[in-house]
Amino acid sequence: MRAADIIGKKRDGQALSDEEIAFFIQGVASGSIPDYQASALLMAVTLRGMDEAETVSLTRAMLRSGRVLDLASVGAPRVDKHSTGGVGDKVSLILAPLAAAMAVKVPMVSGRGLGHTGGTLDKLESIPGFRTDLGPEEFAANVKELGLCITGQTEELAPADRKLYALRDVTATVRSVPLIAASIMSKKLAEGVQGLLLDVKCGSGAFMKTLEDARELARAMVRIGGSMGVATAALITNMEQPLGKAVGNSLEVKECISALKGKGARDLMELTLVQTAWMLNLADSISEETEVRPLNQWTLKKYREEAMDYLEKGDALRKFVQMVDAQGGDPEAVFEPSRLPLAENITPVAAPANGVVRKLDAYKVGRASMLLGAGRERAGEPVDPAAGIILSKKVGNEIRSGEPVAMFHYNDAARLAEARDVFLSGLEIGDREPAPQPLVLDVVLTA
Ligand code: URA
Repeated sequence: MRAADIIGKKRDGQALSDEEIAFFIQGVASGSIPDYQASALLMAVTLRGMDEAETVSLTRAMLRSGRVLDLASVGAPRVDKHSTGGVGDKVSLILAPLAAAMAVKVPMVSGRGLGHTGGTLDKLESIPGFRTDLGPEEFAANVKELGLCITGQTEELAPADRKLYALRDVTATVRSVPLIAASIMSKKLAEGVQGLLLDVKCGSGAFMKTLEDARELARAMVRIGGSMGVATAALITNMEQPLGKAVGNSLEVKECISALKGKGARDLMELTLVQTAWMLNLADSISEETEVRPLNQWTLKKYREEAMDYLEKGDALRKFVQMVDAQGGDPEAVFEPSRLPLAENITPVAAPANGVVRKLDAYKVGRASMLLGAGRERAGEPVDPAAGIILSKKVGNEIRSGEPVAMFHYNDAARLAEARDVFLSGLEIGDREPAPQPLVLDVVLTA
């Protein structure tokens, strides 16, 4: 078998066999296939696509390029959640301890933010001392003991994805449904989970801009999960405006601490409770060995009420504190958020007109936050844990000219003016309230 023949076959729009995909991915992982050939195949896949069987094969080959954790000894049901990435999306930090408090085991391998999107690891690392580089043994021990652990991808987990993702980033081949689906699912399935909830973000701040594209990605990932025996469900959720009020690492951790006490912004609490309900539903289907059932309004209400009860009793917050402590972070920071990094400068951004906020473009807010230092343009760059944006208003709120629409937090003013311009270019103030948009746009349970 020759790598060039496989690239040529895909260039001509033909489907690749399991053997060809396995050969290519093994070659990428071992280094016997050079970057220029891997890049050529990535472009051919981006332009020609992959069918269902090829996408499943690609995922399996990427998964097998590294170690697959065997977490059977940590107990069951083991369920994780993954978001395709958004702005202000801090749900994992609330949902993981909440679900763990409710007897679900949550082994969560997370990523860092890139471009306008935030990353769970960057948020957690804003807690002084918090470690996200746990090895597989420590990871498993924490999940067993506490019910949860959130850490970063090790060298051993889906190494082919690590290589391919770095190449995709610089060859304009990130936006391809089979490549995104295989990339996400190979890492998630390597965690040894029995269930997986996918939050496929849709809208200006997301990879997927349209409902149609989001559905295609959701179906591809649900199909992969199902074909590997993992109970999988996908929610397609709105990412037109940021979730909650905080965007930026320590600012988001502070917002999560309030949410863990049941006191978060309405949209953040709503999405967290819906997603927790789905985690519990997946956990029940695993325990009862049944198919994943759709949630009707009564079952959704039952799970949500249970989850809210655990927030109000303080059990989820206690779990969060235990996790912070177990991973080397300062647990006192949870009770005294002034111990978290705070920016030297906090400046209001004034509304340019009277009216109602009609749009607060998630991409633009995320980009402005990145320019203030909260995010990175290139993988590997450091982030400023204290930088970011607190929204004073959200879509549908009334505002007066000159009133702050947001507060910018920053230590480095180098790109402050640019951040303000970008932020304001995403703000629309009008006379009438916009039509309300649902938070959950669709649920995908079958491919
Ligand atoms: N997240 C991933 O892990 N991979 C992708 O390709 C896109 C988002």
